[in-house]
Amino acid sequence: MQFKQFEKYTYIQPQHHLYLEELKHFVSKSKYLPRYHIYPKCGLMNDPNGLAYFNNQYHVFYQWFPFEPNHGMKHWGHCVSDDLVNWKEEDVALIPDQEYEKNGCYSGNAIEKDEILHLFYTANYKLENGKIPKQALAYMDKDGHITKEMTNPVIDGAPAKMTGEIRDPFVFEKNGEYYMLLGGKTQEEEGALLVYKSHNLIDWQYVGELDLSINTGYMIECPGYIEVDGKDVLMLSVMGLEKEELKYQNQFTSLYLIGTLDLEHLKFHIETMDEIDNGFDFYAPQVFYGKDKAPMMLSWFGCGEQRLISDKDMWKHGLTMPHILKISDHRLCNYISDDINKAFNNHHQFEDTKTLTESNTYHIQFDLSKQGNEWVRFGDENDYWEFSIDFDKNVMTLDRSHLHHLFDQDNGLIRQCEALNKEEYKVDIYVDNSFVEIFVNEGSRSFMMRCFNLHEMKHEIRFKYKAVGTIDYFNK
Ligand code: FRU
Repeated sequence: MQFKQFEKYTYIQPQHHLYLEELKHFVSKSKYLPRYHIYPKCGLMNDPNGLAYFNNQYHVFYQWFPFEPNHGMKHWGHCVSDDLVNWKEEDVALIPDQEYEKNGCYSGNAIEKDEILHLFYTANYKLENGKIPKQALAYMDKDGHITKEMTNPVIDGAPAKMTGEIRDPFVFEKNGEYYMLLGGKTQEEEGALLVYKSHNLIDWQYVGELDLSINTGYMIECPGYIEVDGKDVLMLSVMGLEKEELKYQNQFTSLYLIGTLDLEHLKFHIETMDEIDNGFDFYAPQVFYGKDKAPMMLSWFGCGEQRLISDKDMWKHGLTMPHILKISDHRLCNYISDDINKAFNNHHQFEDTKTLTESNTYHIQFDLSKQGNEWVRFGDENDYWEFSIDFDKNVMTLDRSHLHHLFDQDNGLIRQCEALNKEEYKVDIYVDNSFVEIFVNEGSRSFMMRCFNLHEMKHEIRFKYKAVGTIDYFNK
């Protein structure tokens, strides 16, 4: 197929439809596509946006540049699901075709009011040097019709002491008021979390900066707030935290803070905080309440600027599976729900050092322990990735340096973090072709990773010693 070049800030117009259909057809032949992860039908996908359980369905919107597998003019793509496994692509939800959003419809979340889903987003508006921060609102009714608020932007400009880098509205209701969190950068080049307040979701009043008492790098993006097991949890995507031996090893970092949110005194009292995920490809998670008010999260399966093997196939990145949130041992755990596990129903048990998979879409479960296996390798001797635990040093390691197709080397090929001081760990790994999700002790630690060795339909899984476990193949 003949690819076309587009100016970076091109938005979808009727004359592009035919070309985009051809591009989607081209992408559909890529051998790296997942089966149960959300991925772009063409171009680049980044942050999940507007997550909601609305009108008896899950809605996932996402940052989307349709024309190329690069960052460009961001639209909001949209897909829906009844079961969190099968996702149906809907029409593009937000096209940046207005003057106030001339450089893209950036990230934001959703809240339901009066049977209408209110979609908040940043209207990206660039000047020659800098930006004017603008926050905008759109509505989706129960028939799926989307319209933009006539008075957009609902917030125009920045409070004193802030730069033009303010974005990613996260709106929630607390104590009978609506609040909006915005990430930003101060003139002193520090990350800031801004709070606004509203009675009607349209008129917003600036309240101030939330005091976090932590290192906020040079910029906060994609803030989030949710209640989990009776605790307040803040989610922050932070740019500019320096790498440490067992921390902050990605270009950008996603943190959770568990504690108490005091909106009256603009303070968050932290009880515990940590990185949300310790893998290679995770950033900009968004939290929301699913069916029966279950606290949930989806995240971008990517981080910053990365070059991937699949770029030549004209699609890039995707989203994690929806994860259920809970607090256990003072840690925020993110894990896969039983609803999703139902889709993995071709069950096998294994008891050996080496197992050959039947396909590359499955869920495997086993233990790693001080007395037994300390590592597991996926792939053959010349092309594998490894997950291991050093029980004496209390360190977990994910290593993709032994793959045949190395990629994203600039950001390093190994990730390490502190283990949880246990002698035995339960490990769950979900493989979906080039998307791999690893969970330790029901999501007390998680590691998201892309890898491109598993596109052969079958591959080996090897343990140091004999291992006992189960494999459930995806069977939809
Ligand atoms: C995070 C982010 C957001 C922004 C969006 C643009 O990955 O940079 O801050 O709204 O991506 O696509």
